[in-house]
Amino acid sequence: MRIAVRYYSRGGATEKVAKAIAREAGERALATDKPLEKKADILFIGSGVYKGHIDGHVKAFIEGLTPDKVGKAVFFSTAMLGGGHSDEEVRKLLAEKGISMDTRTFHCHGKFLFFHRGHPDEKDLLDAEIFARKIIKK
Ligand SMILES: Cc1cc2nc3c(=O)[nH]c(=O)nc-3n(C[C@H](O)[C@H](O)[C@H](O)COP(=O)(O)O)c2cc1C
Repeated sequence: MRIAVRYYSRGGATEKVAKAIAREAGERALATDKPLEKKADILFIGSGVYKGHIDGHVKAFIEGLTPDKVGKAVFFSTAMLGGGHSDEEVRKLLAEKGISMDTRTFHCHGKFLFFHRGHPDEKDLLDAEIFARKIIKK
């Protein structure tokens, strides 16, 4: 089974989570400016949440996907508050490309101003690894 991890991270929080997921998958986490070269049976795709939305780079990456390149997508994010509506935003964008998204998603806090300093922390990253393990096993 081939696994790919793509993310966009303005401040580094989502990158940390992407790397934890990639470590578990035995793959490298790459930014969304790196298109998929081969088919991914599972594509983990992550973004920070900015003003309630995923980053435009992630939207552009999804726009460039084709159903023959992705078995299924799995979304993860970091945010000050939580995933918000980002799950549904990503699910809709993927559906428009004919790609299904797993119902399971991963979210954790990322630091923002004075809030959630130190996040994602060790436990967040361990949770991300456990999440990835469960997805990859099923
Ligand atoms: C410009 C900006 C807007 C943000 N808007 C939101 C938001 O609407 N909701 C939220 O929960 N967090 C918001 N945040 C916090 C980010 O989601 C959080 O810091 C996240 O971990 C950033 O990920 P990154 O470090 O990978 O860029 C915002 C952060 C920035 C810089």
